[in-house]
Amino acid sequence: MLFSATFSWGILSVCRDGAAGYEVDSVHEAADPVEAVRKAEGIFIGGGNTFRLLKNLYDNNLVTEIRTRVLQDGVPYMGSSAGSNVATVSINTTNDMPIVCPPTFSAIGLVPFNINPHYLDPDPHSRHMGETREQRIMQYHEEPETPCVLGLREGSMLLVEGHKATLLGSTQARLFQRLSGFGGLSGLFVHLSAP
Ligand SMILES: *[C@@H]1O[C@H](CO)[C@@H](O)[C@H](O)[C@H]1NC(C)=O
Repeated sequence: MLFSATFSWGILSVCRDGAAGYEVDSVHEAADPVEAVRKAEGIFIGGGNTFRLLKNLYDNNLVTEIRTRVLQDGVPYMGSSAGSNVATVSINTTNDMPIVCPPTFSAIGLVPFNINPHYLDPDPHSRHMGETREQRIMQYHEEPETPCVLGLREGSMLLVEGHKATLLGSTQARLFQRLSGFGGLSGLFVHLSAP
């Protein structure tokens, strides 16, 4: 499940069956983080700075481990905010500042698209002079071979089961798709409404 809502700062938590349902262990407190992920029955990654989160995941050799656990072993993964960014193709469509440099922006790759969490619709009355979120995602799609970006509004979540993705929540999402063959000019993109 990929949420848009803001959660606490936790880097990564690993769940294990406990007496009262689930016990949650923080992987950054584990003596052996890779082993902790291997034993986990569920994985949750919350929010924070996406660049620092991805760097921590690479520094601890967890990117491949999490991908294997989820895609091969069928372990459920839940991410919110930055935790949803790192589950996708790349973190290139995060809202965060690059305060540290991960070895690559390629992420865990559980789904074949990117997410922009906390997606904000453009406000026609805004006097803010910076780019809108829509413009920033269009800039991303000016780059060649960039995947679709799902703008998940606050209050939306995406439930991914196998090859099926279901949009849940009350606010819906906006799907931005790059049109191939147009030489990367902005303005030449379709905006599909997700169901
Ligand atoms: C993300 O950004 C990096 C660095 O600019 C770039 O090399 C890479 O192609 C981008 N990846 C995707 C999937 O957009």
